[in-house]
Amino acid sequence: MLKGKNIVVGVAGGISAYKVVDVVSRLKKQGANIYVIMTKAATNFVTPLTFREISGHPVVVDMWAEATNWNVEHIALASRADLFLLAPATGNIIGKIANGIADDMLSTTVMATTAPILMVPAMNTNMYLNTIVQQNISKLTQLDYYFMDPDCGKLACGTEGVGRLPEPEAIVEKVIEILKTNHDFTGKKILITAGGTQEAIDPVRYIGNRSSGKMGYALAEVAAHRGAKVTLISGPTHLVSPPGVTIEFVQSASQMQDAVLAHFAESDIVIKAAAVADYRPQSMSEHKIKKTGETLHLILEKNPDILLQLGHLKKHQILVGFAAETQDLLVHAQDKLTRKNLDMIVANDVTIPGAGFNTDTNIAKLLYRDGRIEELPQMSKKRLAEVILDKIHIECRK
Ligand code: PMT
Repeated sequence: MLKGKNIVVGVAGGISAYKVVDVVSRLKKQGANIYVIMTKAATNFVTPLTFREISGHPVVVDMWAEATNWNVEHIALASRADLFLLAPATGNIIGKIANGIADDMLSTTVMATTAPILMVPAMNTNMYLNTIVQQNISKLTQLDYYFMDPDCGKLACGTEGVGRLPEPEAIVEKVIEILKTNHDFTGKKILITAGGTQEAIDPVRYIGNRSSGKMGYALAEVAAHRGAKVTLISGPTHLVSPPGVTIEFVQSASQMQDAVLAHFAESDIVIKAAAVADYRPQSMSEHKIKKTGETLHLILEKNPDILLQLGHLKKHQILVGFAAETQDLLVHAQDKLTRKNLDMIVANDVTIPGAGFNTDTNIAKLLYRDGRIEELPQMSKKRLAEVILDKIHIECRK
């Protein structure tokens, strides 16, 4: 399952370090190449020799040891790693990483890697629930670090509660899940809309909204990364086009409607993250409107509701909409889900800081056709895009 994957395992100084020997052994049996880095404190619990024997590779501990070929190669792994697993992740190492401190081999290599990082916290219950530790975890979650929740049970310190390292098989399962999600949309055609539409008033002015396109672009990037053939219909944005995505720019809702309808029949999945103007000026003035009176009256007419139309046309397609609301989030989202014949709707209350327009994070609730509602914590738009695609993959096929 993990054949040829390079996994760097960072072991910090906690009593459960001994369980990580089993994790390494299981990962190795799955075909992965394992490279272990230990903190000095971790060597009080398990010797580097144990990890060396199990992983089949030398173990690095001391950043200041005389440089050998092996040390240099090991650091190069930061960029070659397919995944970085940190277990046990102690309060100390979580705190260092969350605050940009790199003062030993482990924290330095974590800082240098671009691979996905899975943190598996294990510590005393009060330490784990400590507000600072929780804030650090929340900060790292928003920065796209993966976390596993610790198990509940008897702890080494003699107390009972949350804080145990999850069982080795659960950690291995999580590693497999993160590494295998990469190509699960191969062969699928996904149509995504992003950004806000602009409805012209005259040659220099328009009616628009605050959408930056970040949510839709994150979805397009992640879907392409997971193997989908992605067409992104984008309103005007300042964003860089995501790699591997076919992008078509539009301005108005009616241009977006034409572009979406042109690709709809061939699409397997449609995700409408765009903020489409509901109304447009009835006519566009040919010339710049002059400042002649105290008031200016614009007559607006309704734009087509593209998603509603897709809901009627839908055959094999999975249809996912968004609902941007400022009040009664669930009521309005539920109504849109049903009325527009959607498979799932992503509801965001755009009045909450860290959610909605032009932020790097979002806070969403996912509503399904069968009435289930899933509440998600604040997370980066990229991570939310991952979650939405996971849900499409699992839930919408039921
Ligand atoms: O772009 P960002 O700055 O990252 O911000 C993200 C976001 C807030 C724009 C995004 O998370 C979001 O909520 N997008 C939907 C915005 C919206 O227009 O919501 P709505 O509730 O008005 O529309 C419901 C759904 O119908 C949406 O999927 C929308 O694309 C679609 N719609 C709406 C009106 C219309 N005329 N045609 C449509 O297709």
